[in-house]
Amino acid sequence: MPKNLALLILALLIALVSSPACTDDDDADDDDDADTGEAEQYCVEQLPMDYKTSASFFTNMPAPLEGSSPHGTVQIWYTTDLQTLIEEPSFTAPAGAISIKEFDENKDGTMDGLAVMVKRDAAYDPTNNNWCYEMRSLDGQTVNSAGKTEMCINCHKAWAATDYLGGVEMDDGIDSCFDTFPADYKTSANFFTQMTAPVEGGSPHGISQIWYSTDLQPLIGQASFTAPVGAVSVKEFDMDKDGTMDGLVTMVKKDAAFDPTNNNWCYEMRSLDGATVNDAGKIGMCINCHKTDAATDYLAGTDLL
Ligand code: HEC
Ligand code: HEC
Repeated sequence: MPKNLALLILALLIALVSSPACTDDDDADDDDDADTGEAEQYCVEQLPMDYKTSASFFTNMPAPLEGSSPHGTVQIWYTTDLQTLIEEPSFTAPAGAISIKEFDENKDGTMDGLAVMVKRDAAYDPTNNNWCYEMRSLDGQTVNSAGKTEMCINCHKAWAATDYLGGVEMDDGIDSCFDTFPADYKTSANFFTQMTAPVEGGSPHGISQIWYSTDLQPLIGQASFTAPVGAVSVKEFDMDKDGTMDGLVTMVKKDAAFDPTNNNWCYEMRSLDGATVNDAGKIGMCINCHKTDAATDYLAGTDLL
Protein backbone atom coordinates (compact mmCIF):
# COMPACT_ATOMS: atom_id res chain seq x y z
CA MET A 1 0.00 0.00 0.00
CA PRO A 2 1.46 3.44 -0.90
CA LYS A 3 2.50 5.34 2.19
CA ASN A 4 0.30 8.40 1.60
CA LEU A 5 -2.79 6.21 1.01
CA ALA A 6 -2.10 4.49 4.34
CA LEU A 7 -1.79 7.88 5.98
CA LEU A 8 -5.04 9.05 4.42
CA ILE A 9 -6.89 5.99 5.70
CA LEU A 10 -5.40 6.50 9.14
CA ALA A 11 -6.47 10.16 9.10
CA LEU A 12 -10.01 9.14 8.12
CA LEU A 13 -10.16 6.55 10.87
CA ILE A 14 -9.04 9.12 13.45
CA ALA A 15 -11.60 11.59 12.12
CA LEU A 16 -14.34 8.93 12.42
CA VAL A 17 -13.40 7.81 15.90
CA SER A 18 -12.87 11.31 17.25
CA SER A 19 -16.07 12.78 15.80
CA PRO A 20 -19.12 11.81 17.87
CA ALA A 21 -21.38 13.82 15.52
CA CYS A 22 -20.47 11.65 12.58
CA THR A 23 -23.49 9.64 11.49
CA ASP A 24 -24.14 7.20 8.63
CA ASP A 25 -25.55 10.08 6.64
CA ASP A 26 -22.46 12.18 6.86
CA ASP A 27 -19.21 11.18 5.20
CA ALA A 28 -16.05 12.56 6.77
CA ASP A 29 -15.04 13.96 3.39
CA ASP A 30 -18.18 15.67 2.13
CA ASP A 31 -18.12 19.10 3.62
CA ASP A 32 -18.47 20.83 0.25
CA ASP A 33 -22.01 19.92 -0.82
CA ALA A 34 -24.34 22.04 1.20
CA ASP A 35 -27.45 21.30 -0.87
CA THR A 36 -27.06 17.56 -1.39
CA GLY A 37 -27.68 14.75 1.03
CA GLU A 38 -24.50 12.91 0.24
CA ALA A 39 -22.27 13.22 -2.81
CA GLU A 40 -20.85 10.11 -4.45
CA GLN A 41 -18.66 9.53 -7.45
CA TYR A 42 -21.41 7.76 -9.36
CA CYS A 43 -24.50 5.58 -8.87
CA VAL A 44 -23.29 2.98 -11.36
CA GLU A 45 -19.69 2.88 -12.48
CA GLN A 46 -20.57 1.86 -16.05
CA LEU A 47 -23.92 3.22 -17.14
CA PRO A 48 -25.16 0.83 -19.86
CA MET A 49 -24.95 3.25 -22.79
CA ASP A 50 -26.69 0.77 -25.12
CA TYR A 51 -29.97 1.39 -23.25
CA LYS A 52 -31.74 2.30 -26.50
CA THR A 53 -31.05 -1.05 -28.14
CA SER A 54 -30.29 -3.36 -25.20
CA ALA A 55 -32.70 -6.19 -24.40
CA SER A 56 -32.28 -5.20 -20.74
CA PHE A 57 -34.06 -1.86 -21.25
CA PHE A 58 -37.42 -0.73 -22.65
CA THR A 59 -39.26 2.52 -23.17
CA ASN A 60 -43.00 3.09 -23.29
CA MET A 61 -42.43 6.32 -25.20
CA PRO A 62 -42.01 5.97 -28.97
CA ALA A 63 -40.83 9.59 -29.09
CA PRO A 64 -39.80 12.31 -26.62
CA LEU A 65 -42.68 13.98 -24.80
CA GLU A 66 -42.99 17.16 -22.81
CA GLY A 67 -43.28 16.14 -19.18
CA SER A 68 -44.09 18.09 -16.07
CA SER A 69 -40.58 18.08 -14.61
CA PRO A 70 -38.04 20.89 -14.79
CA HIS A 71 -36.37 18.87 -17.55
CA GLY A 72 -38.47 19.95 -20.53
CA THR A 73 -38.93 17.35 -23.25
CA VAL A 74 -37.94 13.86 -22.16
CA GLN A 75 -37.75 10.21 -23.13
CA ILE A 76 -37.45 7.57 -20.41
CA TRP A 77 -35.99 4.07 -20.46
CA TYR A 78 -36.34 1.50 -17.67
CA THR A 79 -34.64 -1.82 -17.07
CA THR A 80 -36.91 -4.73 -18.00
CA ASP A 81 -37.19 -5.85 -14.36
CA LEU A 82 -39.60 -2.88 -14.13
CA GLN A 83 -41.64 -3.72 -17.24
CA THR A 84 -44.57 -5.52 -15.65
CA LEU A 85 -44.35 -3.55 -12.40
CA ILE A 86 -44.91 -0.11 -13.93
CA GLU A 87 -48.29 -1.24 -15.24
CA GLU A 88 -49.39 -1.66 -11.62
CA PRO A 89 -50.85 1.23 -9.62
CA SER A 90 -48.46 0.48 -6.77
CA PHE A 91 -45.14 -1.36 -6.68
CA THR A 92 -41.61 -1.50 -5.25
CA ALA A 93 -38.71 -1.53 -7.70
CA PRO A 94 -36.17 -4.34 -7.19
CA ALA A 95 -32.59 -3.52 -6.19
CA GLY A 96 -30.52 -2.97 -9.33
CA ALA A 97 -33.37 -1.37 -11.32
CA ILE A 98 -32.27 1.61 -13.42
CA SER A 99 -34.12 4.43 -15.14
CA ILE A 100 -32.43 6.68 -17.67
CA LYS A 101 -34.14 9.86 -18.76
CA GLU A 102 -32.85 11.83 -21.74
CA PHE A 103 -33.85 15.45 -21.39
CA ASP A 104 -34.01 18.44 -23.70
CA GLU A 105 -34.21 21.18 -21.13
CA ASN A 106 -34.45 24.17 -23.49
CA LYS A 107 -36.71 22.21 -25.89
CA ASP A 108 -34.60 23.03 -28.95
CA GLY A 109 -34.92 19.48 -30.31
CA THR A 110 -31.50 18.35 -29.07
CA MET A 111 -31.11 16.25 -25.94
CA ASP A 112 -28.96 17.97 -23.31
CA GLY A 113 -28.10 15.21 -20.88
CA LEU A 114 -29.16 12.21 -18.82
CA ALA A 115 -30.93 12.05 -15.46
CA VAL A 116 -30.53 8.62 -13.89
CA MET A 117 -32.05 6.75 -10.95
CA VAL A 118 -30.52 3.54 -9.66
CA LYS A 119 -32.24 1.39 -7.02
CA ARG A 120 -29.79 0.30 -4.35
CA ASP A 121 -30.16 -2.29 -1.61
CA ALA A 122 -32.18 -1.77 1.56
CA ALA A 123 -29.23 -0.37 3.52
CA TYR A 124 -28.58 2.54 1.16
CA ASP A 125 -31.22 5.12 2.09
CA PRO A 126 -34.17 3.38 3.76
CA THR A 127 -36.04 6.59 4.60
CA ASN A 128 -36.11 7.53 0.92
CA ASN A 129 -36.68 4.17 -0.80
CA ASN A 130 -32.97 3.58 -1.55
CA TRP A 131 -32.60 5.42 -4.87
CA CYS A 132 -29.29 6.90 -6.01
CA TYR A 133 -29.75 9.96 -8.28
CA GLU A 134 -27.29 10.88 -10.97
CA MET A 135 -26.84 13.57 -13.62
CA ARG A 136 -24.64 12.66 -16.59
CA SER A 137 -23.54 14.10 -19.88
CA LEU A 138 -25.54 12.77 -22.85
CA ASP A 139 -22.68 10.45 -23.84
CA GLY A 140 -22.63 9.04 -20.30
CA GLN A 141 -18.94 9.87 -19.85
CA THR A 142 -19.17 12.68 -17.27
CA VAL A 143 -21.02 12.40 -13.96
CA ASN A 144 -22.10 15.88 -12.84
CA SER A 145 -23.68 14.80 -9.57
CA ALA A 146 -24.48 11.51 -7.85
CA GLY A 147 -25.89 10.32 -4.56
CA LYS A 148 -28.85 10.87 -2.26
CA THR A 149 -29.42 14.26 -3.86
CA GLU A 150 -31.98 16.05 -1.70
CA MET A 151 -33.27 18.25 -4.50
CA CYS A 152 -34.21 15.16 -6.54
CA ILE A 153 -35.60 13.24 -3.55
CA ASN A 154 -37.80 16.12 -2.43
CA CYS A 155 -39.68 16.12 -5.69
CA HIS A 156 -39.62 12.38 -6.46
CA LYS A 157 -40.91 11.31 -3.05
CA ALA A 158 -44.32 12.64 -4.12
CA TRP A 159 -44.76 9.38 -6.09
CA ALA A 160 -44.89 7.14 -3.05
CA ALA A 161 -47.12 4.45 -4.61
CA THR A 162 -44.85 3.93 -7.62
CA ASP A 163 -41.66 3.85 -5.53
CA TYR A 164 -40.60 7.45 -6.34
CA LEU A 165 -40.88 6.93 -10.11
CA GLY A 166 -42.70 9.91 -11.63
CA GLY A 167 -42.50 8.93 -15.28
CA VAL A 168 -44.40 5.65 -15.21
CA GLU A 169 -47.74 7.36 -15.77
CA MET A 170 -46.51 9.18 -18.83
CA ASP A 171 -48.64 8.44 -21.82
CA ASP A 172 -46.86 6.62 -24.62
CA GLY A 173 -48.74 8.93 -26.96
CA ILE A 174 -51.01 6.11 -28.15
CA ASP A 175 -54.72 6.65 -27.46
CA SER A 176 -55.89 3.80 -29.64
CA CYS A 177 -54.40 1.14 -31.92
CA PHE A 178 -57.15 1.77 -34.52
CA ASP A 179 -58.15 4.68 -36.74
CA THR A 180 -61.67 3.25 -36.56
CA PHE A 181 -62.45 0.25 -34.40
CA PRO A 182 -64.24 -2.44 -36.50
CA ALA A 183 -67.18 -2.88 -34.12
CA ASP A 184 -68.84 -5.26 -36.64
CA TYR A 185 -66.12 -7.94 -36.26
CA LYS A 186 -68.76 -10.62 -35.61
CA THR A 187 -70.57 -10.11 -38.92
CA SER A 188 -68.00 -8.39 -41.13
CA ALA A 189 -66.56 -10.24 -44.14
CA ASN A 190 -63.16 -8.93 -43.01
CA PHE A 191 -63.17 -11.14 -39.90
CA PHE A 192 -63.53 -14.84 -39.09
CA THR A 193 -63.50 -17.02 -36.00
CA GLN A 194 -62.46 -20.65 -35.68
CA MET A 195 -64.51 -21.00 -32.51
CA THR A 196 -68.18 -21.89 -32.68
CA ALA A 197 -68.57 -20.95 -29.02
CA PRO A 198 -66.47 -19.34 -26.26
CA VAL A 199 -63.84 -21.65 -24.71
CA GLU A 200 -61.62 -21.54 -21.69
CA GLY A 201 -58.04 -20.96 -22.85
CA GLY A 202 -54.82 -20.57 -20.93
CA SER A 203 -54.88 -16.81 -20.52
CA PRO A 204 -55.74 -14.70 -17.46
CA HIS A 205 -58.91 -13.69 -19.32
CA GLY A 206 -60.99 -16.70 -18.42
CA ILE A 207 -63.43 -17.85 -21.11
CA SER A 208 -63.00 -16.21 -24.48
CA GLN A 209 -63.81 -16.15 -28.17
CA ILE A 210 -61.33 -14.86 -30.72
CA TRP A 211 -61.85 -13.23 -34.12
CA TYR A 212 -59.04 -12.61 -36.62
CA SER A 213 -58.94 -10.44 -39.72
CA THR A 214 -59.17 -12.51 -42.93
CA ASP A 215 -55.61 -11.63 -43.99
CA LEU A 216 -54.60 -14.08 -41.23
CA GLN A 217 -56.84 -16.90 -42.51
CA PRO A 218 -54.21 -18.62 -44.71
CA LEU A 219 -51.60 -18.35 -41.93
CA ILE A 220 -53.49 -19.49 -38.84
CA GLY A 221 -52.98 -23.21 -38.42
CA GLN A 222 -49.40 -23.04 -39.66
CA ALA A 223 -46.77 -23.82 -37.08
CA SER A 224 -44.89 -20.64 -37.78
CA PHE A 225 -45.80 -17.38 -39.56
CA THR A 226 -45.52 -13.61 -39.50
CA ALA A 227 -48.74 -11.60 -39.48
CA PRO A 228 -49.03 -8.93 -42.19
CA VAL A 229 -49.15 -5.24 -41.26
CA GLY A 230 -52.76 -4.29 -40.53
CA ALA A 231 -53.76 -7.71 -39.15
CA VAL A 232 -56.21 -7.52 -36.26
CA SER A 233 -57.40 -9.86 -33.54
CA VAL A 234 -60.35 -9.16 -31.27
CA LYS A 235 -60.95 -11.35 -28.22
CA GLU A 236 -64.12 -11.21 -26.16
CA PHE A 237 -63.46 -12.33 -22.62
CA ASP A 238 -65.52 -13.49 -19.68
CA MET A 239 -62.99 -13.08 -16.92
CA ASP A 240 -65.12 -14.26 -14.00
CA LYS A 241 -66.62 -17.08 -16.14
CA ASP A 242 -70.21 -16.20 -15.23
CA GLY A 243 -71.46 -16.67 -18.80
CA THR A 244 -71.43 -12.94 -19.65
CA MET A 245 -68.63 -11.35 -21.66
CA ASP A 246 -66.84 -8.59 -19.72
CA GLY A 247 -64.84 -6.74 -22.35
CA LEU A 248 -62.50 -6.88 -25.35
CA VAL A 249 -58.75 -7.19 -25.75
CA THR A 250 -57.33 -6.54 -29.19
CA MET A 251 -54.02 -6.78 -31.01
CA VAL A 252 -53.20 -4.77 -34.14
CA LYS A 253 -50.10 -5.40 -36.23
CA LYS A 254 -48.32 -2.12 -36.94
CA ASP A 255 -45.50 -1.34 -39.37
CA ALA A 256 -41.86 -2.22 -38.77
CA ALA A 257 -41.07 1.07 -37.02
CA PHE A 258 -43.68 0.65 -34.27
CA ASP A 259 -41.97 -1.74 -31.85
CA PRO A 260 -39.38 -3.83 -33.71
CA THR A 261 -38.10 -5.56 -30.58
CA ASN A 262 -41.59 -6.92 -29.87
CA ASN A 263 -42.92 -7.77 -33.36
CA ASN A 264 -44.78 -4.45 -33.76
CA TRP A 265 -48.11 -5.31 -32.10
CA CYS A 266 -50.29 -2.63 -30.55
CA TYR A 267 -52.34 -3.94 -27.58
CA GLU A 268 -55.63 -2.55 -26.43
CA MET A 269 -58.33 -3.09 -23.82
CA ARG A 270 -61.87 -1.95 -24.70
CA SER A 271 -65.32 -2.02 -23.26
CA LEU A 272 -67.47 -4.85 -24.68
CA ASP A 273 -69.39 -2.43 -26.93
CA GLY A 274 -66.05 -1.22 -28.34
CA ALA A 275 -66.80 2.41 -27.45
CA THR A 276 -64.30 2.99 -24.62
CA VAL A 277 -60.54 2.38 -24.75
CA ASN A 278 -59.22 1.53 -21.30
CA ASP A 279 -55.56 1.18 -22.25
CA ALA A 280 -53.66 1.12 -25.54
CA GLY A 281 -50.10 0.89 -26.79
CA LYS A 282 -47.02 -1.23 -26.19
CA ILE A 283 -48.47 -2.59 -22.95
CA GLY A 284 -45.62 -4.34 -21.14
CA MET A 285 -47.86 -6.78 -19.29
CA CYS A 286 -49.43 -8.05 -22.54
CA ILE A 287 -46.10 -8.21 -24.39
CA ASN A 288 -44.35 -10.19 -21.69
CA CYS A 289 -46.85 -13.01 -21.91
CA HIS A 290 -47.56 -12.94 -25.67
CA LYS A 291 -43.90 -13.00 -26.66
CA THR A 292 -43.68 -16.61 -25.47
CA ASP A 293 -45.62 -17.50 -28.68
CA ALA A 294 -42.74 -16.40 -30.89
CA ALA A 295 -43.36 -18.91 -33.72
CA THR A 296 -46.90 -17.67 -34.34
CA ASP A 297 -45.83 -14.00 -34.21
CA TYR A 298 -47.05 -13.44 -30.62
CA LEU A 299 -50.54 -14.80 -31.36
CA ALA A 300 -51.40 -17.22 -28.55
CA GLY A 301 -54.85 -18.45 -29.56
CA THR A 302 -54.36 -19.71 -33.10
CA ASP A 303 -54.88 -23.38 -32.17
CA LEU A 304 -58.04 -22.78 -30.14
CA LEU A 305 -61.10 -24.23 -31.88
C1 HEC B 1 -39.50 19.48 -9.36
C2 HEC B 1 -39.63 18.05 -9.50
C3 HEC B 1 -38.42 17.21 -9.94
C4 HEC B 1 -37.12 17.30 -9.56
C5 HEC B 1 -36.47 18.33 -8.67
C6 HEC B 1 -36.44 16.19 -10.20
N1 HEC B 1 -37.32 15.45 -10.93
FE1 HEC B 1 -36.89 13.74 -11.94
N2 HEC B 1 -38.80 13.68 -12.61
C7 HEC B 1 -39.80 14.59 -12.33
C8 HEC B 1 -40.97 14.30 -13.12
C9 HEC B 1 -42.27 15.08 -13.13
C10 HEC B 1 -40.66 13.14 -13.86
C11 HEC B 1 -41.58 12.46 -14.87
C12 HEC B 1 -41.07 12.68 -16.29
C13 HEC B 1 -41.01 14.12 -16.67
O1 HEC B 1 -42.03 14.81 -16.61
O2 HEC B 1 -39.89 14.55 -17.02
C14 HEC B 1 -39.30 12.78 -13.51
C15 HEC B 1 -38.65 11.66 -14.02
C16 HEC B 1 -37.35 11.31 -13.73
C17 HEC B 1 -36.70 10.10 -14.18
C18 HEC B 1 -37.35 8.97 -14.96
C19 HEC B 1 -37.81 7.87 -14.00
C20 HEC B 1 -39.18 8.10 -13.39
O3 HEC B 1 -40.13 7.43 -13.79
O4 HEC B 1 -39.30 8.93 -12.45
C21 HEC B 1 -35.42 10.13 -13.72
C22 HEC B 1 -34.36 9.08 -13.96
C23 HEC B 1 -35.27 11.36 -12.96
N3 HEC B 1 -36.47 12.06 -12.98
C24 HEC B 1 -34.11 11.76 -12.32
C25 HEC B 1 -33.99 12.92 -11.58
C26 HEC B 1 -32.75 13.35 -10.95
C27 HEC B 1 -31.42 12.61 -11.02
C28 HEC B 1 -33.02 14.52 -10.30
C29 HEC B 1 -32.09 15.41 -9.51
C30 HEC B 1 -30.85 15.79 -10.13
C31 HEC B 1 -34.44 14.82 -10.55
N4 HEC B 1 -34.99 13.83 -11.31
C32 HEC B 1 -35.08 15.94 -10.04
C33 HEC B 1 -39.70 15.63 -11.45
C34 HEC B 1 -38.54 16.05 -10.83
C1 HEC C 1 -50.34 -14.35 -18.79
C2 HEC C 1 -50.50 -14.41 -20.21
C3 HEC C 1 -51.29 -13.36 -20.97
C4 HEC C 1 -51.40 -12.01 -20.74
C5 HEC C 1 -50.80 -11.20 -19.61
C6 HEC C 1 -52.20 -11.46 -21.82
N1 HEC C 1 -52.58 -12.46 -22.67
FE1 HEC C 1 -53.65 -12.23 -24.38
N2 HEC C 1 -53.68 -14.24 -24.61
C7 HEC C 1 -53.06 -15.17 -23.80
C8 HEC C 1 -53.41 -16.52 -24.23
C9 HEC C 1 -52.94 -17.80 -23.60
C10 HEC C 1 -54.26 -16.37 -25.34
C11 HEC C 1 -54.94 -17.46 -26.14
C12 HEC C 1 -56.41 -17.45 -25.87
C13 HEC C 1 -56.77 -17.73 -24.45
O1 HEC C 1 -56.21 -18.67 -23.84
O2 HEC C 1 -57.61 -16.98 -23.91
C14 HEC C 1 -54.38 -14.92 -25.56
C15 HEC C 1 -55.10 -14.36 -26.60
C16 HEC C 1 -55.20 -13.02 -26.87
C17 HEC C 1 -55.81 -12.44 -28.05
C18 HEC C 1 -56.36 -13.23 -29.24
C19 HEC C 1 -55.27 -13.31 -30.32
C20 HEC C 1 -54.24 -14.39 -30.12
O3 HEC C 1 -54.29 -15.42 -30.82
O4 HEC C 1 -53.33 -14.22 -29.30
C21 HEC C 1 -55.75 -11.10 -27.92
C22 HEC C 1 -56.28 -10.08 -28.91
C23 HEC C 1 -55.09 -10.82 -26.66
N3 HEC C 1 -54.75 -11.99 -26.04
C24 HEC C 1 -54.84 -9.55 -26.17
C25 HEC C 1 -54.20 -9.31 -24.97
C26 HEC C 1 -54.01 -7.97 -24.42
C27 HEC C 1 -54.46 -6.66 -25.06
C28 HEC C 1 -53.36 -8.13 -23.21
C29 HEC C 1 -52.95 -7.07 -22.21
C30 HEC C 1 -53.97 -6.17 -21.76
C31 HEC C 1 -53.15 -9.57 -23.03
N4 HEC C 1 -53.66 -10.24 -24.10
C32 HEC C 1 -52.52 -10.12 -21.93
C33 HEC C 1 -52.24 -14.89 -22.74
C34 HEC C 1 -52.07 -13.63 -22.19
